[in-house]
Amino acid sequence: MKPAPLKPIRSVLSVPGNRAEMHEKARCSAADMVMLDLEDSVPPEEKKQARQTVVRTISDLAWKDKALAVRINALDTPFGYKDAVEVAEAVGDKLDLLVLPKTNTPGDIHFLDRLLSGIELACGHKFVLNIEAAIETAAGLNQVSAIAAASQRLASLSFGVADYTASVGAGLASVSGHGENDAHVYPGHRWHFPLSRMIMAAKANGCFAVDAPFGNFKDSEGLKASATMAKALGCDGKWAIHPAQIDTINQVFSPTPEEIERALKILKTAKEAGHTRGAVAIDGKMVDQATIRLARRVRDHARHLGLVAAQ
Ligand code: COA
Ligand code: MG
Repeated sequence: MKPAPLKPIRSVLSVPGNRAEMHEKARCSAADMVMLDLEDSVPPEEKKQARQTVVRTISDLAWKDKALAVRINALDTPFGYKDAVEVAEAVGDKLDLLVLPKTNTPGDIHFLDRLLSGIELACGHKFVLNIEAAIETAAGLNQVSAIAAASQRLASLSFGVADYTASVGAGLASVSGHGENDAHVYPGHRWHFPLSRMIMAAKANGCFAVDAPFGNFKDSEGLKASATMAKALGCDGKWAIHPAQIDTINQVFSPTPEEIERALKILKTAKEAGHTRGAVAIDGKMVDQATIRLARRVRDHARHLGLVAAQ
């Protein structure tokens, strides 16, 4: 059985799994997806309790149309397998996505895939759970294409900048290490290569590509620059770690009115001219099949977001 396709996600709000008081706030936020985190935002002594809190939150709160994810711990920790089993057994059919941090090999995905299949059969779940592989180590990036192709459950790849920096030993350029201050230590986009490499593997396998969070939640200009760069490289969305970041991320990853207008004009003119094949000139610029494909993507995303009529 194939999982239900994941809808395009612009913003993913990460919320510590042990902070129940934040879960309701996250549910009411404008984030396209909420990710209840059992990994790096939860201290080891609270891992067990956080698992129970997350299961309760998913069962008790009315999530309606809000997409919902859980990030389990990595599989080389004492917590990861138990997170997967307990969460998937209790609420796997209420989740859109299970996020696997520090995915290092396709074997990690094979393991999780088989485990989830057994749980879904045993529990009689009607839905097959999607997986997001977080690429945040040198080992993971080294095998990213095989990871992206490892299972039909793979719906997205995300790039974890802070862990990747630690993995390759590239130094700590800011307090949080989540993408701030990069421009001061490297001319150009410091993470251009690993991010683009991950995006290529994601898109070649029909997956979404998601950028890591920006650590300084008081710097909206820095966040905007970071998100704009990720979008320019092909990312579909970005994580947020604070509600104050959501509007900026949603805005950056939505097509602008100018983009939508341009796309609709291209499609209309090309259709009217009967030039659905080959190149034409619009406003003195060359428009060919590549342009039309780009325009269709913008129109389809705008339709999904309700920014233009469905047909
Ligand atoms: N989800 C939901 N609500 C959040 C939130 C989040 N990620 N981050 C902050 N809030 C809430 C706070 O609870 C607070 O609510 P209140 O006004 O009712 O008290 C409000 O937003 C303002 O928070 P603020 O005081 O500005 O931040 P803070 O100092 O309480 O918390 C962090 C700062 C960074 C610790 C917190 O934002 C956080 O834990 N973020 C998530 C971290 C995470 O998930 N990391 C792993 C992914 S890389
Ligand atoms: Mg990480």
